Amino acid sequence: MKFIATDVEDSTSKLADKLRAAVRRPDHAIDSYFYRSHLVYERELGALVFRSWIYAAHVSELAAPGDYLLLDIGEDSIIIVRADSGEIHALMNVCRHRGARVCEAGSGHRKTFVCPYHGWVYNTDGSLKAAREMTVRPDFDMSAHGLKQARVVVYMGLVFINCDPRAADFLGPLQNLEEPLGAYDLANAKIAHKQTYRVDANWKLVLENYLECYHCATSHRAYARMHTLKDMDAKVADVVQAMLDRTESVTGVKGMGKEYERIYGNAEGFGCCVYTSRYGLFDGYLTGSEDGQPVAPLMGQIKDYDGGVGDYQMGPLSFMLNYPDHCVLYRFLPRGLTATDMELVWFVRGDAREGLDYERDKLTWLWHNTTLEDEFIITRNSEGVNSRFFEPGPYHPEFENTLKSFIHWYLVTLAGTV
Ligand code: FES
Ligand SMILES: [Fe+2]
Repeated sequence: MKFIATDVEDSTSKLADKLRAAVRRPDHAIDSYFYRSHLVYERELGALVFRSWIYAAHVSELAAPGDYLLLDIGEDSIIIVRADSGEIHALMNVCRHRGARVCEAGSGHRKTFVCPYHGWVYNTDGSLKAAREMTVRPDFDMSAHGLKQARVVVYMGLVFINCDPRAADFLGPLQNLEEPLGAYDLANAKIAHKQTYRVDANWKLVLENYLECYHCATSHRAYARMHTLKDMDAKVADVVQAMLDRTESVTGVKGMGKEYERIYGNAEGFGCCVYTSRYGLFDGYLTGSEDGQPVAPLMGQIKDYDGGVGDYQMGPLSFMLNYPDHCVLYRFLPRGLTATDMELVWFVRGDAREGLDYERDKLTWLWHNTTLEDEFIITRNSEGVNSRFFEPGPYHPEFENTLKSFIHWYLVTLAGTV
């Protein structure tokens, strides 16, 4: 369903009623109202998305001063750029004169950003360099009209931004990933491929799908053949424990099997979710590929295949799945009430050569196809949820537990706006 008719009776009091009702049934899916209301969407952006830490880029995409890329969130565009000082900035792509976009192309290299409307010129650090003929206005203060900026942190080569100037510190919570994530040497890794999948569904349906593996056995045949996450914990405890027992000696990485979980309502600061664990692949599978066999050279300091895969969360909307030979980053961003951008980034060792050390098609096969399967399921979910006959059903207590934590945090966050 791509078109949602405007609910002319929508109001803050209706939102408050729906929130109260949803909080009273925490073990059930939420009402279709939350996927259909323009008021809800507007509140979500302000109270949740633009207050959260979000993966924006890898340092290799911003190697030299002037290198930039655009990050689109909701109706907004943010320029992620390395300034002449070497520092990375996140600049709002909105001219401080009368608001035109100052940058059009999705990525590239610029000495300055020149607004196409009346020609104001901005430096790569966002400061205003020139405002044509504005000297005739004696009260005009150049220094007060730089592009607005979001906060930026860089952790292991991953650039995160937060549009809330008062956002909680993120680097502190991220330190909990030091051992298991550090092993992949992401700061020196190479992006082998990245792709944006536009899904015609509300962003929560897309994220909810990622947060549960109840659907893995039925929707993802290739994934389910290899990954133990498709089963309930008790059923695969032996396989997972055997992997955890050998992971440090096989990979040569201390702390490789570390488990840490502070997400959503339990995060160390708002929008600062951090999670790591390592789960097992079924015997005979070494990595996430079509046949479970290696598709790239081992990453970072990892010495051998342990039959495990690292599962990570960084912020409410960004995730990683790391195999010994490649890493896959997932990010979900709302692009309208019924449009979501699902971005996937495949990382390999920094010195790996395409065609020699890895084939792009083989490397991306599993998660490209799994993502298309998800897109298929999510759009059908969206159609059903938008039906007047939809009635929220019960969550599975184990498989849908993380999804339940997200929804609870979401409802509480939204309740703060009414
Ligand atoms: S809107 Fe950018 S210079 Fe006028
Ligand atoms: Fe899925």
